[in-house]
Amino acid sequence: MPTKIVIGAQWGDEGKAKVVDYLTLKADVVVRYQGGANAGHTVIVGDTEFVFHMIPSGIMHEDKACVVGNGVVIDPEAMLAEIDDLEGKGFSVAGRFFVSHIAHMVMPYHKALEKASEESKDGVKIGTTGRGIGPAYRDKVERTHGVRVMDLLDPARLRDKLRASINAKNEILTKVYGQDPLDVGPILDAYVGYGERLAPYVTDASVYLNQAIDQGKQVLFEGAQGTLLDIDHGTYPYVTSSNTTAGGACTGTGIGPTRIDEVIGVTKAYTTRVGNGPFPTELLGEEGERLRSLGHEFGATTGRARRCGWFDAAILRASSRINGLTSIALTRLDILDELESLKLGIGYRYGEQVLEEFPSDPQVLEQCEPIYEEMEGWLAPTTEARRFDDLPPQAQAYVKRVSELSRAPVSLISVGPERESTIDID
Ligand code: IMP
Repeated sequence: MPTKIVIGAQWGDEGKAKVVDYLTLKADVVVRYQGGANAGHTVIVGDTEFVFHMIPSGIMHEDKACVVGNGVVIDPEAMLAEIDDLEGKGFSVAGRFFVSHIAHMVMPYHKALEKASEESKDGVKIGTTGRGIGPAYRDKVERTHGVRVMDLLDPARLRDKLRASINAKNEILTKVYGQDPLDVGPILDAYVGYGERLAPYVTDASVYLNQAIDQGKQVLFEGAQGTLLDIDHGTYPYVTSSNTTAGGACTGTGIGPTRIDEVIGVTKAYTTRVGNGPFPTELLGEEGERLRSLGHEFGATTGRARRCGWFDAAILRASSRINGLTSIALTRLDILDELESLKLGIGYRYGEQVLEEFPSDPQVLEQCEPIYEEMEGWLAPTTEARRFDDLPPQAQAYVKRVSELSRAPVSLISVGPERESTIDID
């Protein structure tokens, strides 16, 4: 059984949760490997909607195990709230949910520092989700003040770490940002409590996952955010602080690249972005509004309106290259059902030059004008389609062109939010 990574091929919100939910039917273990509570994965089962920020959405399938790897920064309050919500709705997680002992924690001072930085007059405004992700990864990389899951299980060690860390953070909060200092006591008490509740789930995730693969189990790695939000390969500095690309699945869990069989890039049939940063095919004004309202494009984590635009094949080609995509899962095709004509960005005009590849210099990208190809819309509902041939000819032509321009075959098409609204080309 193959090991698969599902990643976002654009700027996040591509509909990964729906694709992961569908692929989970054939998986044994579902794993998150990067990001934190900045992710918002919505899954609709029957009439009930579940939004996950910390736990892999595969947890909805009661015969599957779910793992949060070391690359994730863990917000224990959010994680425990999700466990309580699931258990309250009758989904037991005991014995099938695991958290890496070496994952780093998001602490209250991470959120306070992020808020102060985003509100300050100086520096770049990223437009973050406010979940403390950047400062948590900063502490991890800086090494002096990172708090890991294993520290939560040892109150004495946690107290020493917190004292040192909060002293240092208070210097910045008070002197740089003019904010009130934080108290060690309540934070220590809260995190010791979280540690007690999380203890049954803590494990060496690398050992667990490698054994699962050795036993022939199918492991599905669920990426959060998207390729262009990757700290290295994204539209820096308007990115998140982790490796959202396929390589992150290895470093973020402790499995080797030779253990991966497939990488599936999830892409919308158009493009969206939340937060600041360049977006060449963005539609401003009425056209953008129309796409936003057709697609109900508002963030699952922050409720912010998403910026909307046409499909941009240069982004998909970059995604294909960086992630080594073996196929594409094309989502939200049905959102385009009512559009008379569609545009596909095929490359950019930059001054006198024509660029085929997505530029990694943000200043170049800011000045790129998309080159479009126009296609006829299908003006017919696609939600009931279950086979490729059920799609109207214009929709078939659109999917084929997307695949051609993206340099990857399409393995899955999603035509609605429900699990069954899926065309499985594989
Ligand atoms: P952070 O991850 O909260 O630091 O935010 C950094 C950037 O990534 C901002 O532009 C966010 O809007 C964006 N971002 C973070 N998580 C998501 C996501 O799950 N979907 C879409 N955008 C995201």
